[in-house]
Amino acid sequence: MADPIVAPSVLSADFSNTAAGLAEIGRSGAEWVHLDVMDGHFVPSLSFGPKMVADLRPHSQAVFDVHLMVCGPDSLIDGFARAGADYITFHTEAAVHSHRILEAIRRLGKKAGISIVPSTPVCQIEPLLPFTDLILVMTVNPGYGGQALIGECFDKVRDLKDRRERGKGKYLISVDGGINEGTAAAARSAGADVLVAGSAFFGAPDKALFVKRLKGRA
Ligand code: DX5
Ligand code: ZN
Repeated sequence: MADPIVAPSVLSADFSNTAAGLAEIGRSGAEWVHLDVMDGHFVPSLSFGPKMVADLRPHSQAVFDVHLMVCGPDSLIDGFARAGADYITFHTEAAVHSHRILEAIRRLGKKAGISIVPSTPVCQIEPLLPFTDLILVMTVNPGYGGQALIGECFDKVRDLKDRRERGKGKYLISVDGGINEGTAAAARSAGADVLVAGSAFFGAPDKALFVKRLKGRA
């Protein structure tokens, strides 16, 4: 089994100096940067828009993994593609025409991701599996960093891995919410390919060691 990719979320960085947070991610050995976009409607919080992503882009070589927690994601795809996103992931619960949006993201030359909240079953996105590059399984209800993980969500990770093995798609499986040194092993054994971590990463005194531990290498 390959080591999982680690994707620290800048949501838990100090927004008055986000570039410094990005540099900490760069030095840690994490391969991806997770960028949480919140609109105050799909989720109660507000975070940032495409300008933040565009301003951070020149400061990092890492893969930019944009997670849109917004209503009507269709209208924002173009802006985040131009801002330098590599992966653009939206919530199927926030969209009517999820397939059309996945295709639009791919047409812009980006990797297309779909996300499900804890109350959404995998069967709801089953028709979309061949059209997606990443499935983001939320392991908390989206909206805030620092929440406790809902362990039952790992059943969906196992289900998605099983479907992939049966040839239903070629997506990466990502988990997001409450991932830390204590929960990462269960995420890995369920079959997660990408581990998103916000508060645990920025709270870790030794970030390189934290990333190694998330990968199961320390
Ligand atoms: C939550 C966001 C997460 C958040 C994770 O709505 O989608 O990416 O940053 O934060 P932690 O790791 O603190 O649960
Ligand atoms: Zn996220």
